[in-house]
Amino acid sequence: MEIATSNGPVIDIRHLKKSFGSNHVLTDFNLSVNKGENVVVLGKSGCGKSVLIKCIVGLLPYDQGSIRLFGKEVSAMSQKELDHFRSRIGFVFQSSALYDSMTVGENLEFPLRHHGKEKTKAETRAIIEETLANVGLSHAIDLMPVELSGGMRKRIGLARALVLKPEIMLYDEPTTGLDPVTGKEISQLMLQMQEKYHTTSIIISHDMNCSRMTANRMTVMINGINYADGTFEQLKSSADANVNSFFEFTAP
Ligand SMILES: Nc1ncnc2c1ncn2[C@@H]1O[C@H](COP(=O)(O)OP(=O)(O)OP(=O)(O)O)[C@@H](O)[C@H]1O
Ligand SMILES: [Mg+2]
Repeated sequence: MEIATSNGPVIDIRHLKKSFGSNHVLTDFNLSVNKGENVVVLGKSGCGKSVLIKCIVGLLPYDQGSIRLFGKEVSAMSQKELDHFRSRIGFVFQSSALYDSMTVGENLEFPLRHHGKEKTKAETRAIIEETLANVGLSHAIDLMPVELSGGMRKRIGLARALVLKPEIMLYDEPTTGLDPVTGKEISQLMLQMQEKYHTTSIIISHDMNCSRMTANRMTVMINGINYADGTFEQLKSSADANVNSFFEFTAP
């Protein structure tokens, strides 16, 4: 299939609008992310961050505006094109969303079988083992999701998104609910992915340690718009309480 290429931003969101009935969630959201960049999206609970991510991957239709991935409009893609694009995107769900009837190893094999190129059993096994080692969970390969702790589920969810070495990563609260040490390890892994594969990422996070470590730029979502854009330090020192209050408890 023809792969769309473009020298512009890898992800380009313009004037995005999305409502559920009278609940106007995204009202005029704009964000461009260049190749190899990590952009963190901050926003209060329920403001529409997960909705934004779901619109980007085509899981939710948007009402107006535009989302372009590699220069191609998501809403104009056929199901086949969407499937193809999804193989280039890793999506870490807020809830991990593992398949409960499959082992950890099978959970990672699933995207490889559905999206990846034809591989031998040994090649598949090697990729799964490498990816699990990356998230520090080699020993969990034969466990069922029900046997995992919350933090382990998060890391397996991350491993499953990384298994295809995607060009775009969308992280929905990748470190929320983890202890600070594990959270830091996950943030480091996100950085490694960016450095090693020049992954382009949108990271939804309330975790200021994760944001500080991973963000090249940040945007604050308020009332469905990108209310403020800047680096971690710029937004932290903003005079606007709507913005700086997100940073209240961070170390100087
Ligand atoms: N499928 C849906 N149908 C109807 N309303 C929805 C749907 N998904 C989300 N919403 C609504 O959209 C709004 C934004 O939800 P969203 O999950 O994006 O919040 P969020 O910013 O990710 O919050 P959190 O930080 O708690 O995860 C909420 O008011 C929610 O009720
Ligand atoms: Mg959410």
